[in-house]
Amino acid sequence: VTCVADDVVPTVTIEIVDRLDEAVRAAVERLLPQLSRSATFDEQTLAWVVAHEATTLFVARMDDGDDVVGALTLVTYPLPTGLRAHVDDVVVDDAVRGRGVGEALVRSALDRAVQVGARTVDLTSRPSRESAIRLYERVGFVRRDSTLFRWEPSSDPA
Ligand SMILES: CC(C)(COP(=O)(O)OP(=O)(O)OC[C@H]1O[C@@H](n2cnc3c(N)ncnc32)[C@H](O)[C@@H]1OP(=O)(O)O)[C@@H](O)C(=O)NCCC(=O)NCCS
Repeated sequence: VTCVADDVVPTVTIEIVDRLDEAVRAAVERLLPQLSRSATFDEQTLAWVVAHEATTLFVARMDDGDDVVGALTLVTYPLPTGLRAHVDDVVVDDAVRGRGVGEALVRSALDRAVQVGARTVDLTSRPSRESAIRLYERVGFVRRDSTLFRWEPSSDPA
């Protein structure tokens, strides 16, 4: 997928990572803190994301210079009700936001989800992530009234 922003801005290419190279490793390490302050980078985990059947790591690479400036993870998983998909960890480098890189990443993930036969693609986003929410609605995500629950080992009252 090539996303043409305009005449002066270099384009980016969206790629699926099938081998973890140093450029991708370093870029993800640099981008994760921009996703969440509590995100901690771990190379083993990233290698697992790349190798795992259920996860597909997408990166956005600048066409001039090969810099990786964005990433997204698509999760696909079979359920008795069909193949489902989830989009997670969408992040674009602060320096290149507002040029369509995020949208190109999300559209590539949606194309892939359709290709593999996913019935639905879900994602969650905090209301404070306004730019992200506008992006998701722009590409066709529709809000659903559902409550997100999270359990952590420390939440067990027993
Ligand atoms: C959310 C995020 C991924 C969006 O990435 P991005 O590359 O800036 O996204 P886009 O460029 O596709 O869209 C952003 C804005 O740029 C605008 N835009 C896109 N291409 C443009 C262009 N060529 N010229 C002018 N504006 C453009 C879009 O219309 C959009 O405007 P809006 O925010 O007013 O609706 C990025 O802001 C980010 O990483 N945020 C921090 C992490 C985060 O919140 N992740 C989401 C977790 S749910």
